[in-house]
Amino acid sequence: MLMSERVNFGSRIGAILAAAGSAVGLGNVWRFPYETGNHGGAAFILVYLGCVFIFGLPIMIAEFTIGRRSKACTGGAYDALAPGTLWKWVGYLGVLTGFLILGYYSVVAGWTLEYIWQALAGGFAGKSSEDYVVMFQDFSQHPFRPLLWLFVILFITHWVVVKGVKDGIEKSSKIMMPLLFILIVLLAACSISLPGSEKGLEFLLKPDFSKVTPDVFLGAMGQAFFSLSLGMGCLSTYASYFGKKTNLGQTAMSVGLIDTFVAVLSGLIIFPAAFSVGIQPDAGPSLIFITLPNVFQQAFAGVPLLAAVCSAAFYVLLALAAITSTISLHEVSTAFLHEKFRFTRSRAAVLVTSGAMLVGVVSSLALGEWSAFRICGLNMFDALDFLTAKIMLPVGGMFAALFVGWIIRKDIVKGEVTNYGTLRAPYYPVYRFILRFVAPVGILLIFVNELGWLG
Ligand code: PHE
Repeated sequence: MLMSERVNFGSRIGAILAAAGSAVGLGNVWRFPYETGNHGGAAFILVYLGCVFIFGLPIMIAEFTIGRRSKACTGGAYDALAPGTLWKWVGYLGVLTGFLILGYYSVVAGWTLEYIWQALAGGFAGKSSEDYVVMFQDFSQHPFRPLLWLFVILFITHWVVVKGVKDGIEKSSKIMMPLLFILIVLLAACSISLPGSEKGLEFLLKPDFSKVTPDVFLGAMGQAFFSLSLGMGCLSTYASYFGKKTNLGQTAMSVGLIDTFVAVLSGLIIFPAAFSVGIQPDAGPSLIFITLPNVFQQAFAGVPLLAAVCSAAFYVLLALAAITSTISLHEVSTAFLHEKFRFTRSRAAVLVTSGAMLVGVVSSLALGEWSAFRICGLNMFDALDFLTAKIMLPVGGMFAALFVGWIIRKDIVKGEVTNYGTLRAPYYPVYRFILRFVAPVGILLIFVNELGWLG
């Protein structure tokens, strides 16, 4: 988007919901539960909450500051605020990160479409827990079927991005987010009422600190950045559409709370149900796809139509939540190509979509036909997830903190959070201290700790 064409979100709540639409997605419902499961449960969640409040919220306000002040997409924002310096590379890193995430994230978004299809076609009826595991394996390892859904997701995303996003994103977020919310609360209630669910609640709520390894810190930090859409300039690009009156601190707080709430509630759906039907919590990326169909079948046993309609409704909402996130990921690369290389928006979008298809095909096949091809022991899907979420996003977030903490003029940093003197922002001194010292040092320490250098 060029500056002169920039349109603002129409309302304060619209800005919050659009940012929350980017943040809430597969990261909350799909990734959070399996990362929690892989890292031993409640203790991981505590470390995660620490990362959200110590790194996440301040860095979100920092990204909002970069976006609204520069009125440019992330690829141009650093250059606009610190012209002619190397900082522009942080913007480029963000664009690359978002592009890579878009590729493998769309694969998982595609899985949700298959599951809508299966729900409506009666594919879940009368199956046992093991059957759901086999069903997921057969599907995700299939050479063509997941690719078909991947293309559908990318086409929808492409279409919305080319059509122009503001109205679409803002309006759809306003309807969808509350719906997703209600459905998640209902499902959590269903799941907790299943027989044998207490073990799952215990796993989720009773921390076992002996399970806190360096890996838990890296995992929780990566998850916080991924889930809050931080570290790649997604929210700074959205903030470039914020109006003058948007309260950055309050918006960040709302997005952070909504996002965390949805993640924890997703845990409350998955773990009681998983323990109830005997699925291991560390099943990895397949976790929600093998657990949820079970919840619906059990909760509505005897009324197959209701079970089918509810499962379909859930996956529809999940797909929509995923699509508001793929749109925000796509928008970052498209806006960058449009602004930097003067491509038309539609040509830029074609390039991004084609590239994302390639990344998507590679990551999808990595789970089946190409699973033997590994980097550091990880298949390409897991390697991309590791590289982007656990390394590139925290690095991007660390630079955003350093940039706002040390490079941008102090009066601008304060001005953006107080809307140039019209708002009170009592948190300002703490916020600035976190950006300057706590976040950069904390993120570095977590990396160093993971490498085993802290002993
Ligand atoms: N936050 C999104 C989710 O939780 C994923 C995402 C990551 C979107 C990074 C944009 C940028 O699903």
